[in-house]
Parts: sequence; structure tokens; C-alpha cells
Amino acid sequence: MKIRVNGVERDLGDIDPATPLLWVLRDELQLTGTRFGCGRGLCGACTVHVGGAPMRSCILPVQAVQAEVTTIEGLSADGSHPVQQAWREHCVPQCGYCQPGQMMSAAALLAGNATPDDDAIDAAMAGNICRCGTYPRIRKAIHSAAGGGK
Ligand code: FES
Ligand code: FES
Repeated sequence: MKIRVNGVERDLGDIDPATPLLWVLRDELQLTGTRFGCGRGLCGACTVHVGGAPMRSCILPVQAVQAEVTTIEGLSADGSHPVQQAWREHCVPQCGYCQPGQMMSAAALLAGNATPDDDAIDAAMAGNICRCGTYPRIRKAIHSAAGGGK
């Protein structure tokens, strides 16, 4: 089986096709930026893009992946994605554990809505849990990444 991740085709050999994408990324491809939180599609820590759409990789069998996967490592080559810049500007992370998933959800939101209002941000980010409570800074950073500078 082969999948395309961050612009590169990866050969997964005879991997069990039911393996969740999360474990393919972390254990087979050593892309450990994508995090395991709940394993049930409830926390968002494992969010990656599949064909540009945010997906919970912990509950997505690799055999169901039919489009390019982008992980936090592939969001930009040098940390220059507007979401990455805004996250630094607003010092969003505390422990940091949830943040790759938060950033992938934010990047997907902005790709589809260049100027989201608070309601759109809250709706898009509702599935990403942060135990450190960084939600106000996440919202500010998304406005900043969108060019609003709030
Ligand atoms: S680890 Fe996938 S949603 Fe929680
Ligand atoms: S920054 Fe700690 S869980 Fe979100």
C-alpha cells in the first residue's frame, strides 16, 4: 500500500489496511508531530488534512485514505505558514500537546474561509480540546493569521 504524505509518496509495504492513519504517521513514517489523545475521534489532537480537509487520523483506517495527507510537519517547510506565525506571535501553546491538531484545524478553516468571525472560528475549532484552556489565544491567533490582527 502507498500513500502520499507531505508531497512524498510513501510505500507502506504489506501494512494491515485497517491500521489507523495516526499510527502509520507516527510509527511507520516517524511523523510524530501528530498526537494521540483519545483514540476515539473526540479530542482533535490527531487532526491532519486529507485532501485539504481536517480529519481525525486516529479513527481513519489507512485504506480509506484516497488523497494527499498533510501533517503539521508539512504545513510549511520553514514554519512560515500564517497559522504558525500567528501561533508564535500570540504565544498560544502552554503544554503544547494539543497544538498540532489545533493548528491543522485552523489552517483548514482559513483555507476555506479567509476571514472567519468568532462564530465560524468556534464552530470549526469545537472538536479540538485543549486541557490548558488556550482557547482565547487560539481565537486571537486565527484572527491574526487571517489578517485581522485582533
Ligand atoms: S486522538 Fe484522535 S480525536 Fe483524539
Ligand atoms: S496547550 Fe496543553 S492541552 Fe492544549
